[in-house]
Amino acid sequence: MEAVIVAGGLGSRLLPLTERRPKHVLPVGGVPFLAHQLVKLAHSGVDTVVLATSYHAEAFQPVLGDGSRYGVRLSYVREPEPLGTGGAIRHVATALRSGPDEPLLVLNGDQLSGHDLVAQVDRLEQTDADVVLHLVRVADPRAYGCVPTDANGVVLDFAEKSARPASDQVNAGCYVFRRRVVDTIPGGEVVSVERETFPALLLGGYRVVGHLDDAYWRDVGTPQSLVDASGDLVLGVAPSAAMPPIDGVALVQDGARVEGEVRGGTVVGPGAAVGAGARVDRCVLMPGSIVGSGALLDRCVLGPGAVVGTGARLDRVVVGDDAVVAAGWTATGQHVACASRVG
Ligand code: GDD
Ligand code: MG
Repeated sequence: MEAVIVAGGLGSRLLPLTERRPKHVLPVGGVPFLAHQLVKLAHSGVDTVVLATSYHAEAFQPVLGDGSRYGVRLSYVREPEPLGTGGAIRHVATALRSGPDEPLLVLNGDQLSGHDLVAQVDRLEQTDADVVLHLVRVADPRAYGCVPTDANGVVLDFAEKSARPASDQVNAGCYVFRRRVVDTIPGGEVVSVERETFPALLLGGYRVVGHLDDAYWRDVGTPQSLVDASGDLVLGVAPSAAMPPIDGVALVQDGARVEGEVRGGTVVGPGAAVGAGARVDRCVLMPGSIVGSGALLDRCVLGPGAVVGTGARLDRVVVGDDAVVAAGWTATGQHVACASRVG
């Protein structure tokens, strides 16, 4: 089976971490985020994956290679310009070999999901559907695609980021298309699969079916959801076969040095350091970043090479690559630009 991962978005909610790389390769649980999706796809019977790239397209191949270490054949298709989610799917279709009635998996490249992909694929035949959408229930559906269904799971509507959603069931960003349905998306233009393609399919009488599931699911597109996904992976709350074995409440990677306390599923990336008396709770410390002695960090992300001075107190702060936070600085919820100095 073939899969497409759309991974060309700007990742603007994760700035400044996404200034120099796409969000899809940021370390989550100590591995590039897409590793979780690729390994899951391999375990679900997918042998070929095409990444639809645009923003920082050059950054993927050096990190993910040909996919063999994740158990898939991975190739990359770069858009001449960002074509939107639907345009990206249509654009990569030329690189696919599946027959017209075969299932094609399409994933947003920022979803960490424990749902049973094989069961979702099986629903295509079981329900004689044209498309099967993975759906989840969320407390606040306004930031998602709202997807009400009837009693048989047949999709009634698709309302992207509606201010007044009709249901708490939302699009979880994983689709099984019958391959030929992708050809209904116009080629060579910007198309949103959520705002245009799904509503058009419903209007056109196509059979779109929901696959509602309550397994672990998270979109890692914001700093706090990235921190939570990473912490959940380390603590074993989120399932992923791409995780290294972990013993304890933190993951300390090669060449990292920890003198203080790390907990809550914190990842101390390769070559990163946590000084004596520091306490780092549920954070992501990227390679070579440094937490000074006595500093207190809660749910923060430090970009590669970022330095936090002695005794700083940071709560939900994102520190960009190579930025320096002065000793004793106290902040909540701030984003510190790459290579800047604060405090
Ligand atoms: N190749 C390509 N080209 N990929 C793109 C483009 C593009 O022009 N625009 C966005 N993408 C990719 C992003 O990189 C991401 O992997 C995916 O498409 C979804 O984009 P996001 O920007 O993350 O969308 P969202 O999180 O606001 O909403 C989407 O996900 C929700 C679930 O988390 C929608 O699909 C919602 O309907 C859904 O509920
Ligand atoms: Mg997203």
